[in-house]
Amino acid sequence: MAKMWSGRTDGVVDKLADDFNSSISFDCRMYKQDITGSMAHAAMLAARGIIAEEEADTLIRGLEGVLADIESGALTFDPECEDIHMFVEQVLTERLGDVGKKLHTARSRNDQVALDIRMYLRDEIDVIRGLIKRLAEVLCRVAEENKATIMPGYTHLQRAQPVTFGHHLMAYAMMLLRDADRLFDCRRRMNLSPIGCCALAGTTYDTDRRFEAARLGFDGICLNSLDGVSDRDFCVELMSDLSILMMHLSRFSEEVILWSSWEFKFVELSDTFSTGSSIMPQKKNPDMAELVRGKTGRVYGDLMGLLTTLKGLPLAYNKDMQEDKEGVFDACDTVKMCLEVFCGMIDTMRVRADNMKKAAQTGFINATDLADYLVKKGMPFRTAYKISGKLVAECIEKKCVLEELPLEAYRAHSELFDEDLYGEISLETCVSKRISEGGTSVQSVEAQLAWVKERIASI
Ligand code: ARG
Repeated sequence: MAKMWSGRTDGVVDKLADDFNSSISFDCRMYKQDITGSMAHAAMLAARGIIAEEEADTLIRGLEGVLADIESGALTFDPECEDIHMFVEQVLTERLGDVGKKLHTARSRNDQVALDIRMYLRDEIDVIRGLIKRLAEVLCRVAEENKATIMPGYTHLQRAQPVTFGHHLMAYAMMLLRDADRLFDCRRRMNLSPIGCCALAGTTYDTDRRFEAARLGFDGICLNSLDGVSDRDFCVELMSDLSILMMHLSRFSEEVILWSSWEFKFVELSDTFSTGSSIMPQKKNPDMAELVRGKTGRVYGDLMGLLTTLKGLPLAYNKDMQEDKEGVFDACDTVKMCLEVFCGMIDTMRVRADNMKKAAQTGFINATDLADYLVKKGMPFRTAYKISGKLVAECIEKKCVLEELPLEAYRAHSELFDEDLYGEISLETCVSKRISEGGTSVQSVEAQLAWVKERIASI
């Protein structure tokens, strides 16, 4: 079949070239945005007297019909059509005759596709921010329940100082809030309308770009027509934000994988969010967390793909840009899935406070507090640090923990040691005394929770 754009050529394209050129298999998901955009366009054309009011009404009713038929399944996408824009226009023209052919006045597929993507992605951002909110709420719930649950905090994956599980979870909540914030900023920059930039240079028709922009819920318009049709930085920015979000989820996944191992046993994943092995009957695998970690690479790949596609393109539109969509759609789909699964996994996991406490009791994670004990009695920190280190070495040799070492052993190192040291180095004290803002004490974590909850409410 001859193409809608036949004219200079007869519009008959080699089958292979046609398939290669076609994007309808993936841009069909923007049908709603494409049709809504066209409705606003028809209304604008009539408002400016470029087409008659009745023609605009006919076009808008026709477009409503196309939308309804796609949604009911009565109309299926024709793979012969090059893209969603051509498909909608073709169906409309088949149904309306010549009036249908007026719709494309004062626009181009170049500004049309840029419009559709922006409209599609701003909705995706809203959905993703909603899912981030849900996950942050779950984290708050589990953190609240575990604000006094002591676990070892790590540096270099070596036991370092005691923290609470609630404190640990709130760290991720903070990251998620920043992710939501970044997406909010991205949406603000994205929400400018390119429609009316036309092919690249604007138009000789007396159009009203701001009329269309306002109807479509944009905050303004792209102020340079070349820029409006040829940049995809908003897709790059979105995928950068999604990559950062996935990086956070991936680190969290790594911890969930460690925590659910026999070596840690800090959490037990629910049967509904873990899998068994086909050969080893004893296994319960953290597949969900592993997949989130794995899919992070995929989202990074989507980002790198588009950056690379765009880097050598001269202004304005180039067909290379058709390659923007699959990556950015995939990144959104992947992130949505990961957030949902992650939420379910955390919501249903069992926290093994007993094992966390057990792990916290070994590893000398109160050695800093032992040194601080001496410092508070007047000893310089470096000297106290040395003594504390020697006492740890003594414990290792005697196969005991600091709490079990008799007072004489302490006093052999310094007269400053007294009976009260045992209270000072208990894990509960180590935690409860860390009241500095952002610290691990129950009251600090409560303050963090309050702040996070307030922020969540505004998402
Ligand atoms: N399918 C194209 C894309 O996704 C739409 C724009 C085509 N414009 C053109 N002049 N060929 O980029």
